[in-house]
Amino acid sequence: MLALGVSGGEEERNDVLIREARADDHDVVERLRFSVGWMSPDTGLAAMARGLSKVYILEMSGKPVASGALVYKGDDDDLADSRERGLISNLIVDPAYQGRGLGSRMLHFLEERAREQGYAQVTIGVDAVNTGARRLYQREGYRRLKDKLEAWGEVNYLYKPLEPIPVDTA
Ligand SMILES: CC(C)(COP(=O)(O)OP(=O)(O)OC[C@H]1O[C@@H](n2cnc3c(N)ncnc32)[C@H](O)[C@@H]1OP(=O)(O)O)[C@@H](O)C(=O)NCCC(=O)NCCS
Repeated sequence: MLALGVSGGEEERNDVLIREARADDHDVVERLRFSVGWMSPDTGLAAMARGLSKVYILEMSGKPVASGALVYKGDDDDLADSRERGLISNLIVDPAYQGRGLGSRMLHFLEERAREQGYAQVTIGVDAVNTGARRLYQREGYRRLKDKLEAWGEVNYLYKPLEPIPVDTA
């Protein structure tokens, strides 16, 4: 498949399609969480149904192999306040497909969606023990925002300023 670019919140390139999750993607989302050892039940689709976030699925040759979400509004306004900033969450790549750029692809896709929302920055939380993911985010320009002790352990929250989408004055 050739490059079709980004439009309407969907991206298709080189046999990789990123699409919005549907309400019946529950099993897909749970399977991806399970594949990386996340045992807690997903709350992303329910938040999406309430208009608080949007969940995306990345398919390779029609197989769902990654997911990610952009949270518009959460509990903590430092992370997602629906005006200035949104939170990237639930970034998951099936272990069999890791290390080939899909996590970065999903990250960039979610940053674009945040820019479209008009946000000035995105935030992301990474478990303090998850040095691999933090390395990826730091390389992508994320900086330390704050640390928080969540129910499952210490989490480092990072942020990245977004370039505004240029206004076409022509
Ligand atoms: C983090 C994650 C989404 C990255 O996806 P990916 O497709 O492997 O990422 P990419 O191929 O685009 O980039 C690879 C980079 O990820 C980072 N990385 C993340 N986890 C890693 C791990 N366990 N081991 C090594 N590198 C890791 C490294 O920086 C690596 O870059 P490098 O190869 O130059 O060292 C994926 O590892 C994953 O799903 N992990 C489990 C769930 C998770 O921790 N999600 C993040 C929550 S904050």
